Amino acid sequence: MSKEYPPDKNFSEKAYVKSVEEYYEIYKRSIEDPNTFWLEKAKDLDWIKFPTKSFNWINKDRKVFSWFEDGTINACYNCVDRHLKEDSEKTALTWISHDLKETKKINYKQLHELVSKFSNVLKSKGVKKGDRVSIYLPMIPELIIAVLSCARIGAVHSVIFAGYSVPTIKDRIDFAESKLLITSDGSYRNGKVINFIEDINLALEGNPTIESKIIIRRVNLDLQLKENEYFWDQEINSENISKDCDCETMKAEDPLFILFNSGTVEKPKGTLHTTGGYLLYVNQTFKYNFDYHKSDVYFCTADIGWITGHSYMIYGPLSNLANVIMFEGIPTYPDNESYWKIIQDHKVNIFYTAPTVVRSLMRFGKEPLKKYNLESLKLLGSVGEPINPEAWFWYYENVGNGKCPIVDTWWQTESGGFLIAPFPGAFNLKPGFATKPFFGIEAEILRDDFSKAEIDEPANIVIKKPWPGMMRTIYKDHQLFLDIYWSKFKDYYFCGDRAKVDKDGDYFIIGRLDDVIKVSGHRIGASEVESALVSNKNVGEAAVVPFLHKIKGQAMYAFIILREGIVISDNLVEELREHVSKEIGPIAKPDKIQVVKALPKTSSGKIIRRILRAIAYDSEDYGDLSTLVNPETIEQIKLKKL
Ligand code: PRX
Repeated sequence: MSKEYPPDKNFSEKAYVKSVEEYYEIYKRSIEDPNTFWLEKAKDLDWIKFPTKSFNWINKDRKVFSWFEDGTINACYNCVDRHLKEDSEKTALTWISHDLKETKKINYKQLHELVSKFSNVLKSKGVKKGDRVSIYLPMIPELIIAVLSCARIGAVHSVIFAGYSVPTIKDRIDFAESKLLITSDGSYRNGKVINFIEDINLALEGNPTIESKIIIRRVNLDLQLKENEYFWDQEINSENISKDCDCETMKAEDPLFILFNSGTVEKPKGTLHTTGGYLLYVNQTFKYNFDYHKSDVYFCTADIGWITGHSYMIYGPLSNLANVIMFEGIPTYPDNESYWKIIQDHKVNIFYTAPTVVRSLMRFGKEPLKKYNLESLKLLGSVGEPINPEAWFWYYENVGNGKCPIVDTWWQTESGGFLIAPFPGAFNLKPGFATKPFFGIEAEILRDDFSKAEIDEPANIVIKKPWPGMMRTIYKDHQLFLDIYWSKFKDYYFCGDRAKVDKDGDYFIIGRLDDVIKVSGHRIGASEVESALVSNKNVGEAAVVPFLHKIKGQAMYAFIILREGIVISDNLVEELREHVSKEIGPIAKPDKIQVVKALPKTSSGKIIRRILRAIAYDSEDYGDLSTLVNPETIEQIKLKKL
């Protein structure tokens, strides 16, 4: 059995939840009487009309439900305006440029003014409650201002990760039928300028819904505005733009945002989150799992293009009056010490990153860390993929100096906020364990036949009932929502992960059960990459599976069948990798591409990916082979394995 790390006494004394007994007492109430429990918690937010009930199944068969349905609220008000009374001078956002040369601090009063003005800019372009606004921006303060402004006026934001390429951007803007696009002339990556404008213009070709485009000048390209294009700075500083903008009254169940993600279907799925339940859930999980106190400085390294950036860089922390550090760059530029320097210079107390980042910085050893004073740290967070013990210990010993709890947060785009994560003042930590569920989360480990798994037996992790932060549907495709999440175990939410629970009730997440691959913590659907590969003229068929990668955790292994007459070469491999990058984005490039004569299939022609997965993982555990019609493929593929 691995060693356990009990909570530090000093930490526990100041923590919101001080012992595992106290946690169980609150958890029990949250399960036995969720209505009273969540209405009590809802008092932590400012409502326009306080709700009288919490959860309601509107249609249990169709999995339509509501939280706080008769309450009205505004998310931006809760993240900005309500703090003006308490501490308007407090820094809301500390932004650091990609090269660490520039720092900007924005306090809550300034944030309020910027958001109010930009909300008026949006209104002046005809954006109204319920309209969708797409946002494609690097990590600059305007991204947070844009998101909050949408929330202020009731527009639904759809942030697109600024590393995606043209077809993916296009799909997402078109599918959301956005009225307005907010983008920049470009961004800085690894010290280089990346031009966004060409890609954006291509992505908007033939788009019938975008009426205006607002452009932030980040890299100062020499741009001539076209019709219906506007510069952010000119608009926000225009004399006609007032500093006052009322917050729209939103029903708790009005949509707040759409966030597209990858999955088991070829097309991107738009996860839809609504206002009241989501906001309360991220507010509470941020407060309890990070044990956030008002003097803490918080640094999250996630990109706002992903759910972590939405929930734990914007809505969770700002609704808790936090001071959020936002870094424009990457951990390895200008050198591999940028995170340590930021932690030292800004006296960061809570640092939240991904295991892949820890692994990539571990390569440089302890020396770089020794140059910096990281004493301010009190808690370290982890997200996006299982954290392997080696990375856990390195993070704990070297970054946290053996005194900071590691809060391993297991959750998903769909869950809105943390599902299972330590209460750091209360729990014993065990490396690799996400520990116990948040209030209101009833997790179970079920076998495929619905029976309960034994202690320590790996199986499907499911959740019994909806929680406030849960997605409400897949945008414009409720049937897909039912098929993906509610069909395998009927009345239980199927997370798509494999996990086990030990005798203490601590959960260990093993990994995905479906064809989602987690590359450096980024979520990529195998089927999306396969369809990108077969859209290349040289490729007939493709199957993509994960393999273990030292830094990325998982990386992609593509098995392809070339078209008649095509011969593989290094150039062709590179062309295919570039092709995937152009279709989806650089994060989706397969690390390995192996040409095969045939793929393992069933008699109906379905590729049996689990066989390929086993080969890629150097395992002989192929599972049931009775439906395999071409068993010879296993040896053929293994012989030429890369
Ligand atoms: O497989 C789990 C893994 O990431 C999936 C969700 O990915 P995404 O929607 O991109 O959200 C990432 C940020 C929450 C999960 O189904 N995952 C996420 N966090 C962990 C994790 N696996 C193990 N441990 C975690 N802490």
